[in-house]
Amino acid sequence: MNIPDIIVAVDGYSSTGKSTFAKLVADKYSFLYLDSGALYRGVTLYALEHGIIAEDGAIDEAGLKASMDSIELDFRTDGTYLGDRCVEKDIRTLEVSSHVSPISAIPFVRAFVDDKLHAFGKKKRVIMDGRDIGTTVFPDAEVKIFMTASAEVRAQRRFDEMKMKGEDPVFEDVMKNLLERDYIDSHREVSPLTRAADAYVMDNSDMTLHEETVWFQGLCQGKFGILE
Ligand code: DC
Repeated sequence: MNIPDIIVAVDGYSSTGKSTFAKLVADKYSFLYLDSGALYRGVTLYALEHGIIAEDGAIDEAGLKASMDSIELDFRTDGTYLGDRCVEKDIRTLEVSSHVSPISAIPFVRAFVDDKLHAFGKKKRVIMDGRDIGTTVFPDAEVKIFMTASAEVRAQRRFDEMKMKGEDPVFEDVMKNLLERDYIDSHREVSPLTRAADAYVMDNSDMTLHEETVWFQGLCQGKFGILE
């Protein structure tokens, strides 16, 4: 199927499988995949490693603001980099997950990440996943998808993912972190997680990956008049 050079925005709650879906579409249709959450996670990892987040979770906002110019975040083929270090694994720990939502609610952090995303978006033929891509970062994206799934299904997915990575998570902790992030992400003042009015909703609680790609294909066929 010949999809034109467009921007696809994939937003939705935590652990709805946005990145798995976006990577699949990127592979199948030769799009550049960008994980905006990885940039918020990278800033959070930096803050944790530089004493900007206290034991009790309090954030030294002035300290973080003063450090923003030193945070060198980039995407390379093998993942997210902080300076010369590949941090793809380090940004996915429960520790980073439990601090990333308050960090991503800070307006200057959002401006920092948005600048990077806009630069990548200039390339077009991009699929980007996050919370506010279709509403704030690329409000003119040609295709907007809002992904959702039940909390139980999402927590189980995150739990299985962590187990696979050799971690030893407690299901209740994973669920608690997920619900907390849902709440903070959708109630923050700047760019809260919300469905863009023109986004197509995909509830993938009971969908296979194959069904998700068929769904996307159908959407593009209808939208761009593609016949194959
Ligand atoms: O997609 P993720 O779970 O890796 O995202 C990590 C956090 O980053 C998530 O809790 C909210 C935040 N985020 C955001 O606020 N806006 C985005 N576009 C992407 C992620």
